[in-house]
Amino acid sequence: MPAFPQTRMRRSRRHPWSRRLVQENRLGPSDLIQPLFVVGGQGLREPIASMPGQSRLSIDQLVDVAMECRDLGIPAIALFPVTPAELKTPDGRQATNPENLICRALRAVSKAVPDLGLIGDVALDPFTTHGQDGVLDDVDVVDNDRSLEILCRQAVVQAQAGCNVIAPSDMMDGRVGAIRRALDAEGMNQVQILSYAAKYASAFYGPFRDAVGSKGSLGKGDKRTYQMDPANSDEAIREVVLDLDEGADMVMVKPGMPYLDICRRVKSELGVPTFAYQVSGEYAMMSAAAQNGWLDWDRVILESLLSFKRAGCDGVLSYASMEVARGM
Ligand code: PBG
Repeated sequence: MPAFPQTRMRRSRRHPWSRRLVQENRLGPSDLIQPLFVVGGQGLREPIASMPGQSRLSIDQLVDVAMECRDLGIPAIALFPVTPAELKTPDGRQATNPENLICRALRAVSKAVPDLGLIGDVALDPFTTHGQDGVLDDVDVVDNDRSLEILCRQAVVQAQAGCNVIAPSDMMDGRVGAIRRALDAEGMNQVQILSYAAKYASAFYGPFRDAVGSKGSLGKGDKRTYQMDPANSDEAIREVVLDLDEGADMVMVKPGMPYLDICRRVKSELGVPTFAYQVSGEYAMMSAAAQNGWLDWDRVILESLLSFKRAGCDGVLSYASMEVARGM
């Protein structure tokens, strides 16, 4: 490649048409997944203080929002339930109740908006009194194999309620394979699995735990015996490979922006459908700065989402998905 002055990198940046022509990555509505919080009741849109613009929606409102997502060209939504304290137990058994809030929400949305992908979270934290993603053993560590049994039942009831994509976010070993077998045994071999394959024990989940009400339950506890150490990168590749071997159709890296290196490694080394979750803390951080007038929200949110495309992601779960899609 010739150097300056034959080469002038600014030449192709001179005009908007030329910048468009050489643009390597584009973001469109098809790249976006909208996570939504579901709460019991009717006609409710409860704002979430730490996530400006986001609300907990009752099922009737959720159906309206789901229709809007479909109309905006967003391919799929990911649902998270808010469970009232009286329904929480140490074993999180409400997770496996076919009449629980999330199953009712899945039935309502799949009926009203059948062409929208529905992603159901599999993990026990919204349902446990201790806020952990699985059940505890006698020394209060999450018991992997006992948790698997409950998680499989949770996956089956959600799939039966109309969930198209099961997304295990619990980080138990062997859960993708166990869930795959459980779904297949119930005749649901077309239900997909989007594995939270490389999920880190991150401080960026704070506002989410507020939103679903698992923060109080977790208290001073943390999830470091199952979620990954933020120091590790090769381990993420092992996690992703294991989940693919167990039958994951798509894999996810979470959180997003602080882990773009992991997204790039997964895509480059494995070449599989790769997603990132721009989590609640990332959203809160940008919102707070924008509310203070320190950042231009419209520009930072687009720039942040584009960074996922550049890092090799096929799509992003972002709380800003609908807002961004409205502007496309
Ligand atoms: C729980 C779950 C979490 C998120 C998605 N599923 C939180 C956690 O692991 O404690 C976080 C999402 C976000 O912060 O936006 N299984």
